[in-house]
Amino acid sequence: MFPALANGGHGGDVPAPAKARCRTIAVAGGKGGVGKSTVAVNLAMALAIDGRKVVLLDADLGLANVDVMLGLTPTRHIGHLLDGSCHLEELMMMAPHGLKVVPAGSGTRHLAQLGNDGHAAVIRAFDTLEAPPEVLVVDTPAGVSDNVAMFTSAADEVVLVVCDEPASLTDAYALIKVLSRDFGVRRFRMVANMVRNAGEAKQLHAKLARVSDRFLDVVIDFAGMVPHDEYLRRAIRRQTAVVDAWPSSRSAMAFKQLAGAVDTWGEPVSPSLGRIAFFGGQGASLAGW
Ligand SMILES: Nc1ncnc2c1ncn2[C@@H]1O[C@H](COP(=O)(O)OP(=O)(O)O)[C@@H](O)[C@H]1O
Ligand SMILES: [Mg+2]
Repeated sequence: MFPALANGGHGGDVPAPAKARCRTIAVAGGKGGVGKSTVAVNLAMALAIDGRKVVLLDADLGLANVDVMLGLTPTRHIGHLLDGSCHLEELMMMAPHGLKVVPAGSGTRHLAQLGNDGHAAVIRAFDTLEAPPEVLVVDTPAGVSDNVAMFTSAADEVVLVVCDEPASLTDAYALIKVLSRDFGVRRFRMVANMVRNAGEAKQLHAKLARVSDRFLDVVIDFAGMVPHDEYLRRAIRRQTAVVDAWPSSRSAMAFKQLAGAVDTWGEPVSPSLGRIAFFGGQGASLAGW
């Protein structure tokens, strides 16, 4: 097809160069304590170390963890964005390697109880960025609430963090069920966290894929594994990312591998009309919520 036709058939117009879409990756898992924030922080940092322009959004509103994990002390948070007292760009804090962090605000009950309109406003605020990042990583809270569903289904990719505990598997399954049945999410990329070896990680994936294949119309890809690593705990205590503090530790190597794998996931596609999505344009509505 000629470019002019591909551009809507405005004969004679010079088509504008296609703007690469920002890839958005939500990190979810269902259960608390499985390593969602750890994976979100280290994946975002590993991508930033690779030279990508990355923003990390802490969507665990009211219980912010990301800023603590990175030793940041925010003076403003998403609440200030929502009451109009600052712009999204002004909220962003600089972490090492050029990583930008949008802090969630801790101990703020009204943020923890924000309704769908508030969540939609946060997601839409990203449309206003003059210089969108190449990758947006979203750390999501535990549970299967509307909050989790909204931020997760607004992303291009869902990374599911699972560890070898029965409750992690059942909670991940519950989240997959809600997101696929009610929000049309079909593909999930599973990261096995705190495992001893690759065999254990693959087994965990097989368990989750077996039950999901049987009962739900979804694809669960194996995206990688992060070993249980004392250096990672040490990094958390020091309020740094392990990929930054101990780049040759086993967990850091795993995060770098995961960051490298992101490039093999294919180009993000534009969200369907009517769906609220990060960088989805102004046309998206609250339909379906
Ligand atoms: N691969 C790992 N190796 C060792 N400890 C880990 C690993 N992943 C997570 N942890 C530990 O688990 C705790 C909870 O992780 P966190 O990322 O806060 O979970 P979530 O965000 O899912 O609630 C961390 O404070 C860290 O001590
Ligand atoms: Mg967390």
